[in-house]
Amino acid sequence: MSQALDEIKIGGLGASRKRVEDDRFIRGRGNYTDDITLPGMLHMEILRSPLAHARIKSIDASKAWEIPGVHLVLTGEMMATRNLAWMPTLSYDTQAVLATDKVRFQGQEVACVVADDPYIAKDACEAIDVEYEPLPVIVNPAQAVAEGAPVIRDDKENQPDNVIYDWEVGDKAGTDRAFEQADVVSKLKLHYPRSHPSPIECCGSIADFNRATSKLTVYMTTQAPHIIRAAVALVAELPEHMIRIVSPDIGGGFGNKVPVYPGYVCSILASILLERPVKWIEDKSGNLISTGFARDIYLDGEMALRRDGKILGVRMHADADHGAFFSDAQPSKFKIGLLHSTFACYDLPAAHLTARGTYSNKAPGGVAYRCSFRVTEAMFFQERMIAAAAADLGMDPAEFRRMNFVKDEQFPHRTPFGFLLDSGQYGKCLDVGLKAVGYEDFRREQAAARKRGKLLGLGISTMTEPLGAGNSREYDILGIKMFDSAELKIHMTGKAILRTGAKTQGQGHETTWAQIVAHELGLPAEDVVVEEGDTDTAPFGMGTYASRSTPVAGAAVSMVARKIRAKARKLAAHLLEVSEEDVEWELGRFYVRSAPDRGVTIQECAMAAYSNMPDGMEPGLENTAFYDPPNLTWPFAVYLVTVEVDPQTGVWDVLNIVAVDDCGVRINPMIVEGQIMGGLTEAYAMANMQFITFDAEGNCVGSNYMDYLLPTAWETPGFELHSEVVTPSPHHPIGAKGVGECAAVGGPAAFVNAVLDAISDTGVRNIDMPLLPDRVWEAITSRKDVSGAPPVRTDDSPGGSGGVVPPQASTSPGGSGGVVPPQASTGDLASGSGV
Ligand code: CDP
Repeated sequence: MSQALDEIKIGGLGASRKRVEDDRFIRGRGNYTDDITLPGMLHMEILRSPLAHARIKSIDASKAWEIPGVHLVLTGEMMATRNLAWMPTLSYDTQAVLATDKVRFQGQEVACVVADDPYIAKDACEAIDVEYEPLPVIVNPAQAVAEGAPVIRDDKENQPDNVIYDWEVGDKAGTDRAFEQADVVSKLKLHYPRSHPSPIECCGSIADFNRATSKLTVYMTTQAPHIIRAAVALVAELPEHMIRIVSPDIGGGFGNKVPVYPGYVCSILASILLERPVKWIEDKSGNLISTGFARDIYLDGEMALRRDGKILGVRMHADADHGAFFSDAQPSKFKIGLLHSTFACYDLPAAHLTARGTYSNKAPGGVAYRCSFRVTEAMFFQERMIAAAAADLGMDPAEFRRMNFVKDEQFPHRTPFGFLLDSGQYGKCLDVGLKAVGYEDFRREQAAARKRGKLLGLGISTMTEPLGAGNSREYDILGIKMFDSAELKIHMTGKAILRTGAKTQGQGHETTWAQIVAHELGLPAEDVVVEEGDTDTAPFGMGTYASRSTPVAGAAVSMVARKIRAKARKLAAHLLEVSEEDVEWELGRFYVRSAPDRGVTIQECAMAAYSNMPDGMEPGLENTAFYDPPNLTWPFAVYLVTVEVDPQTGVWDVLNIVAVDDCGVRINPMIVEGQIMGGLTEAYAMANMQFITFDAEGNCVGSNYMDYLLPTAWETPGFELHSEVVTPSPHHPIGAKGVGECAAVGGPAAFVNAVLDAISDTGVRNIDMPLLPDRVWEAITSRKDVSGAPPVRTDDSPGGSGGVVPPQASTSPGGSGGVVPPQASTGDLASGSGV
């Protein structure tokens, strides 16, 4: 009879184990960067530019130096003497550490002061006198490519304009043919506005250079400690083994804590110069105004359709505003991230995407805010285009999706952009969602309500996200291949320590990685302690972003546990005095095949590894595994949202949210649900209230939480989550797919589609996010599309200096697209920017 352990009881796969990290968080015993105090520590503050684009004529720091308690004032000129005024970015660009020639965005770092306390440092920053000569400002891609536009990056050789890249992917000729054969062409122009990941904890670092040992230790808020170590080694030209990066507890990252920020570099240099620990903790406005923004993409999209609803082809052009430096991390082969994962869940014969990235006088943007490198934009554009096409064809949007889905028997499925989808049951997820939301009943209710002047709407969004970048054939950042690793040490009493190269920021790795070990070895999860974030102890990893932890580091945890199990089997054979071939495994125990009662536990094997190993066997029970994923994992989800729109005010209320997520095998169902709820909350925020925009002078509007709104528990609607569809990933060791970002990726379009469905009688095809009441009201009353392009002063407006029309400002009735005969569909998509 089997004596296998009950996996749920020991906290293995599928157990909704409570998060072990929460014990310290809810007791106020977390250890965040700002909690760390080192002997002799000094404090650093940053002086930021008030202007978005200006030449620096002079910097006079003499008054700052005179303030008692000031130890150091760093300027770009001083950084330049050490070759540190500029640093390389993670996308093969350069970024100013402290400005020397020009400032290129409002909030750019101009100088730093190190003092006894942060207040003295702040006062001293204000005593620095900087003389600026203002320059014309660019705040969107249309202005960036307009004739005569000022060149923002005149520091770079071979940079005659503001274009960072022109990139294309897909089959242009095949797509052109699809459009020639189309019965109907559906067009849409969209803007995904700038938003900010806005983690509760801002960025910060404490650099501690010890001259006696030549060792530099940096405690900092990074999602990717090993990458930072490599960057510091290259930028500061310090030997890598003398650099220790420690990411302690992190209060949310969401992509904001991937880039290398000037504050990190300056605190390091200050510590080297002063030979004392130097702490820099960014304040909220510094975080909102200067660190990694997300999105800010304009889309011009077209779909070639057969009248019966079959999609024949898709053509897209994206204009991405990257701000002053191209500093977000991308796999180096893919200039606009994984935007070309768009339409992956639909069976398209042909597709073609062109993308242009441009500089502007805005803080560096384009970080993957809770998404796998631009997948949020990809799925938003996809699902908005799908909704518009279904409306153009007069088809039911659910039926239109079902008809075009990749079918279960088509996996593995190659998309027209070259991705290989691993597995999925898209139709089944849709069915579950439609049933849960009561689709048919809602449509009847909607029609009846409309007669009474009540506007109800239902929005559908699907998403499939390429998670687990990546395989080393295709994915690298700065040439470093995107694999991960895990190290497992089983102590003699069967207790264990697991370390990975990932870095949790609230996702619960300390809980779930132990569950994978429990699943593989039968050790109770509570006997496994998980550590991440210290480059001196953790094995190499590319860090945690793009929901890559479960697909890559999580897989490495399985693989290292299996290596341990293989050695434990040899130890078991030795203890049981049989040959290894006669030993069978069940959870937690090896036994003799012919005598199942004769067995040894995994803990007994662990003790034997230190006390009774066979002759010739290397002692101990420890190992490391490096995992290079064969492919990405492709979770799928359907989100359905119902709303009621008030026609008098444009205010919309969410009635119901149904989420059907298929992320393969769920390690911890409770944590997965938490991830989905968090993602849906952020999706709601993006659709409803959240955006950062800039005025014509490049002033960042929304650099505080009075303007940049985060939904609290009060505003956040409730969610109905469904987990009945489970399609394991065929190539992941435990069949798990990533999930952390899915709802933030797929959610926004469901909200927007719902509001547009409610007002479909007006003929309005698009309102750009966020769907603020005034925008919705304007759409209802004017019966015109509403563009969300940033406001730009024109010659007509008071004090106007511009004259450049913002992208999409030319949008007129139906201006965001509409049904056009196929012969009219060959226009230059890039020219839709209205310049
Ligand atoms: O990379 P990141 O940790 O942000 O995202 P993830 O890999 O999707 O994992 C988020 C959290 O959900 C982790 O604690 C995972 O272990 C957990 N998870 C799970 O329990 N089951 C899955 N199939 C996927 C993730």
